[in-house]
Amino acid sequence: MTGMRRLFFSLALAAFFLASCQTNQQVLHSDKPTARIVDIKFQDVQLDYATLLFEIEVDNPYPADLPLVSFNYSLTSGSNTFLTAAPAHAAAIAPNSKELVSLPDEVIYARLLKSLNAKPSSTIPYRTELQLWVDAPDSGQIKLALRHEGLLSLPEEAEVTVEGRTYHSLDVPFVSTPQDVVDKMLQLAKLEKDDLVYDLGCGDGRIPVTAAKMYGCKAVGYDLDPERVKESLENVKKNDVEHLVTIEQKDIFTLDLSKANVITLYLLPALNVKLIPQLEKLKPGSRILSHNFNMKGVKPDKVIKLTSSFDNLEHKIYLWTTPLKKRDNQ
Ligand SMILES: C[S@@+](CC[C@H](N)C(=O)[O-])C[C@H]1O[C@@H](n2cnc3c(N)ncnc32)[C@H](O)[C@@H]1O
Repeated sequence: MTGMRRLFFSLALAAFFLASCQTNQQVLHSDKPTARIVDIKFQDVQLDYATLLFEIEVDNPYPADLPLVSFNYSLTSGSNTFLTAAPAHAAAIAPNSKELVSLPDEVIYARLLKSLNAKPSSTIPYRTELQLWVDAPDSGQIKLALRHEGLLSLPEEAEVTVEGRTYHSLDVPFVSTPQDVVDKMLQLAKLEKDDLVYDLGCGDGRIPVTAAKMYGCKAVGYDLDPERVKESLENVKKNDVEHLVTIEQKDIFTLDLSKANVITLYLLPALNVKLIPQLEKLKPGSRILSHNFNMKGVKPDKVIKLTSSFDNLEHKIYLWTTPLKKRDNQ
């Protein structure tokens, strides 16, 4: 009987020891947060920008919030590491829970397609290495190193529909006119307070803003790209010229220019030519200024050259006055 009791006691002790080991192991195991990459995909693909979303499942074993402090990643396809970044973000995982978080990064989509040498709508195999820093309640910042492989779908660039026309891309990309060239263009236009300036493809809005600030005249900037419109509006606000400058998201080839008497352009020679039917409707005595590019078939009144102190390059400015002096060859 004593022997049986001893055996029973020993078995009970062993069972208790095993159980407590298991419990200890569970505590130790669940002490550390874990994470895994579930998917990577694109969202909100615009003409220029796209959001790259990292969907990550994070397991928070703590009875307190687990803040995600920062992350950095690299994306590789074959031997081509086409993207590395450390985007800013803010998120926290609720106590004792497993959550799917989306960590976004904004990328220049056109540049990404170019560095991948890939077409929209195609799919590329990728490998990612991602480091996620979390702020653990007792041990401070911990790095979770994550890896994932998969197929990344490259969506079509977003279409933009303005006034019934659908665009897949801009007629010309954004490159700004250096400020000293802007000043010279407006000086050549002999701007006066009663003039109305239209900048066709206004970029960051520097031409309408300068016209309003320096000459006190009204100006309108048109651009098709929503990012440029946003930038221009910020520029207008920053310079306190909201009472004089308007910015509109419009396709320049649909505009009625008859109310303006000064037009500024920094487009391309072929686009200047495409604008001729609209420019012919300007009032007599209107001035058209083009940075760097001529307008085949129309004789300029003046062409000047200047070297900008911003880029040390030579720039040309063309001036035409209406009625346009058409000629067959230029
Ligand atoms: C070379 S940038 C000139 C920016 C500004 N005018 C300057 O001189 O600093 C040309 C601008 O035209 C815009 N653009 C291109 N195609 C357009 C279109 N069809 N309608 C309106 N804007 C357009 C682009 O988004 C870009 O901001």
